[in-house]
Amino acid sequence: RRILRTELPGAQVIVVSNREPYIHNLKDGEVDLIVPASGLVSALEPVTRACAGTWIAHGGGSADKITVDEHDHVQVPPGKPAYTLRRVWLSEEEQQGHYSGFSNDGLWPLCHIAFTRPLFRASDWETYEAVNQKFADVVVEEARNERPIVLIQDYHFALLPRMIRRRLPEAIIITFWHIPWPNSEVFSICPWREQILDGLLGSSIVGFHIQFHCNNFMESVDRFLESRIEREHSSISYGGQTTLVHSYPISIEWPPAALEAQPPVEECRRKVFERYGLSDDMKLFVGVERMDYTKGIVDRFQAIEELFTNHPEWIGRLVFLQIAAPSRGTLPAYQHLHQECVGFVDAFNQRYGTDGYKPIIMLAEHHTQEEIYNVYRAADACVVSSLHDGMNLVAKEFVASRDDEHGVLILSTFAGAARELLEAVIVNPYDATAMGEAMMRALTMPAEEQRQRMLRMREIVRENNIYRWAGSMLQDAARLRKRNSIQKVT
Ligand code: G6P
Repeated sequence: RRILRTELPGAQVIVVSNREPYIHNLKDGEVDLIVPASGLVSALEPVTRACAGTWIAHGGGSADKITVDEHDHVQVPPGKPAYTLRRVWLSEEEQQGHYSGFSNDGLWPLCHIAFTRPLFRASDWETYEAVNQKFADVVVEEARNERPIVLIQDYHFALLPRMIRRRLPEAIIITFWHIPWPNSEVFSICPWREQILDGLLGSSIVGFHIQFHCNNFMESVDRFLESRIEREHSSISYGGQTTLVHSYPISIEWPPAALEAQPPVEECRRKVFERYGLSDDMKLFVGVERMDYTKGIVDRFQAIEELFTNHPEWIGRLVFLQIAAPSRGTLPAYQHLHQECVGFVDAFNQRYGTDGYKPIIMLAEHHTQEEIYNVYRAADACVVSSLHDGMNLVAKEFVASRDDEHGVLILSTFAGAARELLEAVIVNPYDATAMGEAMMRALTMPAEEQRQRMLRMREIVRENNIYRWAGSMLQDAARLRKRNSIQKVT
């Protein structure tokens, strides 16, 4: 807020993402509100609140249309309005081609390299272009002047920066890519690689979580577009315009809003233990994510099997609670994963469980942030075993939830968060035996060591919170604007 006031006075902030921060659904004839499971949403929501911006997103809820005004606007958060949500309506066909097709069958597996083959179809690409165009029209419609600050989020909108740049040449366009960027060889398999790079370079700034992804992006541009790359300034000159390519590790609000109403840790633990029938002498590990093949869910279950094989004294004494929010359920890759997880858990529980003991409890349903924080606070350890992840905010949320300074974070080395949270127990999710040993380490870690590690991680998340993430991007944008106006004068 301060940076906006001092460096970019009067600027209007427009956020664009595919996923909306609040979804209104019809449930039993009533309008029901949910906050979707999306790292992007958890990160951007507090920022948009703080700068009273306009958030443009696809209105995908079954009751979304009845909650907007004649301009497709709704003031959110409900009950405490702080900003405007502008909903964009997409037909089934548009969603199929843009969201399920090119974004999630193509770009998602392409960028994550989790060994799921990306699928590229020309018809999806055409729809992707058309939907990007539709959002460009809405951005222009919502812009109050020629120079808004447009914060474009993620791989659903690679073409949008260029489309906006053509119509609002003075806009500050910051595009943040929430997922990894692969090396240029992998990226080269995308049939529309040049168009994607050209689209993104309509931005003033392209942001990634870590420098490694910035380097991969610059290498891709270098290989496929006629451009000049200045590595020492992390900038690309292309088509008469300069784009900065920087890393901005995303984070969460500190303290998180969901923590406000939480009872003390002992009470959370008692409630969760009661709910799932755990006895006091048991240990509880948790995993929280969308049901996604990049998250290494089956891999962590295999690690528990390794643990039980090598340290059978833990059978009967450890329960793993897996929250897996349903996600992208129309895509076969996600349906298969769901079946695989259910199959694994059933077989596992039959093998290691008893009448009163289920070693893995999988809840494949949506949970509120409050419920999730409750579970984080009840756990002895949180396992984040992504095969590849831009950042992973569950790791940061777990740390933020533990104001008792206890609990162990087991974290994949392939999640961006592992570059910051060095005091986590870092694992390679492809190595089940080693991950089983890491679980053993968490089970036996002395309380004082847990505390030291947790304290340090809490300091990091507190310092590098979401406002710092947004602040440094806006600060860079302000510098860029100044530089551009000086260049114009001279
Ligand atoms: C990742 C993506 C986000 C997306 C979220 C949830 O975090 O980077 O853009 O919103 O997953 O996925 P969904 O497809 O449900 O929006």
